[in-house]
Amino acid sequence: MGLGFKLFGRPILSLMDSEKAHRRAIFLLKVTSGFFLGRFLLKILYKPRNLTSELFGFKFPNPLGLAAGMDKNAEAMTGWETLGFGFIEVGGVTEHEQSGNPKPRMFRADRSKALINRMGFNNLGSEKMAIALDRGPKLGIPVFLNVGKSKKTKMEDAHTDYATTVRRCEPFVDGFVVNVSSPNTPNLRDLQNEQDLERIILEVKKFSGSKPVLVKISPDLSNQQILGIVDVGLKLECEGIVATNTTTTRPDSDAPMQEAGGLSGSPLNTRSTEVIRLIADHTDGNWPIVGVGGISSADDAWQKIINGASLLQIYSTLVFNGAGVIKQIIHGLEKRVRDAGLSGIEEAVGLARR
Ligand SMILES: Cc1cc2nc3c(=O)[nH]c(=O)nc-3n(C[C@H](O)[C@H](O)[C@H](O)COP(=O)(O)O)c2cc1C
Repeated sequence: MGLGFKLFGRPILSLMDSEKAHRRAIFLLKVTSGFFLGRFLLKILYKPRNLTSELFGFKFPNPLGLAAGMDKNAEAMTGWETLGFGFIEVGGVTEHEQSGNPKPRMFRADRSKALINRMGFNNLGSEKMAIALDRGPKLGIPVFLNVGKSKKTKMEDAHTDYATTVRRCEPFVDGFVVNVSSPNTPNLRDLQNEQDLERIILEVKKFSGSKPVLVKISPDLSNQQILGIVDVGLKLECEGIVATNTTTTRPDSDAPMQEAGGLSGSPLNTRSTEVIRLIADHTDGNWPIVGVGGISSADDAWQKIINGASLLQIYSTLVFNGAGVIKQIIHGLEKRVRDAGLSGIEEAVGLARR
C-alpha cells in the first residue's frame, strides 16, 4: 500500500462512512492543495499522464471527471484538479439555500462497494454559490455546475428555480447539468416527463449563453422513457447527456442497503453501461454521453467508453479505493487504447458498436 493511499486514500476511505468525515476529507484536500508544496506532493503521488480529448469546444487533459455531489459547494476545486481529474462537476445547487434531509443521510455498504445517500440537495444556494465560484480559483480544466430544484419551490415553478441558478452562476462555470434524476427531493424525478423537461430546458437555455447544457437521467426509467428524454434533449439542442444518477433499486441485501435513498457504486455499473449503450445506439453515437455509475476500474471505464461514453465520472470508488484510483483508471485506459492500436481515446468511443 503506497504512501499516497495512506495519506489521502485511507482518510477518505475510512472517514467517509459519516458525513462529518466526508467534510473532513474535503477540508483536508482543500488545505493541502492551498499550498505550493501540498500541490507538488499531490501531483507527484496522484496526477496521471495526459489522455487528451476535445468536446464541447474544450480540451480535456483526460476523460475522467469528478461526479456531482462530492463537492457540492465548490470548496476544493484546486484539489480535484491537482489530483488529476480531467474535469469536475460541482453542485448540485438549487435556487435557494437548503439544509437537506435529516442526518444520518449517507451510508456505506462495504461488501457491495456501494453508497446510499439521501442528502436531499444540502447546498449554499445559487446566490452564495455564484459568489463562491466568482472568488474561487480559475482552473485549467472545464467546470460544470449540477443544477437541482429547491425543495420549497412548487413543481409548477421548477423551471424558474433551475433557470435562476443558471443565470446567477453562468459567468463562472463552463457548462450545466440539469439534474432531474436525484431520488431525494420529493417528486423531482417526475420532472423527467417530456413536457416538464422541455419547459425546464427552454428556460435554462435562456440564461446558459453559449455554454453546454446536459441532462442527467435516472437509471430507473424504462428504456422507452430514456429514449423519450433523449429525443427532448436532441430537439432542444442540449449538448449531451449524463448517464446515470443513483438508483432506488437494491441489487443485493447488504445491511445498509435497506436504508432509503439513492444507491451508487459497483452495483450500478451494469445498468449504467446499458443505458449508455442504449443512448449511443439511438443517436448513432452523435450525441455526447458522460458515463457515470459504478466505475471502479479501468475495465469498467473502458466498457463505458467503447459502448459510447465520451467522458466519464466517478464518485463512490474514491470512497472505497482512494484518490489513487484516478491514475489507475487513466493509465489503464491509455494501455487499452495502445493495445487496440488506436491513436487516442476519442477513437475508442463507441468501438463496441462498430
Ligand atoms: C453522497 C452523494 C451525493 C450526490 N449528490 C448528487 C447531486 O447533488 N447531483 C447529482 O446529479 N448527482 C449526485 N450524486 C450522484 C453521483 O453524481 C453519481 O451519479 C452516482 O454516485 C453514480 O456514480 P458512482 O457509482 O461513481 O458513485 C450523488 C452521489 C452521492 C454518493
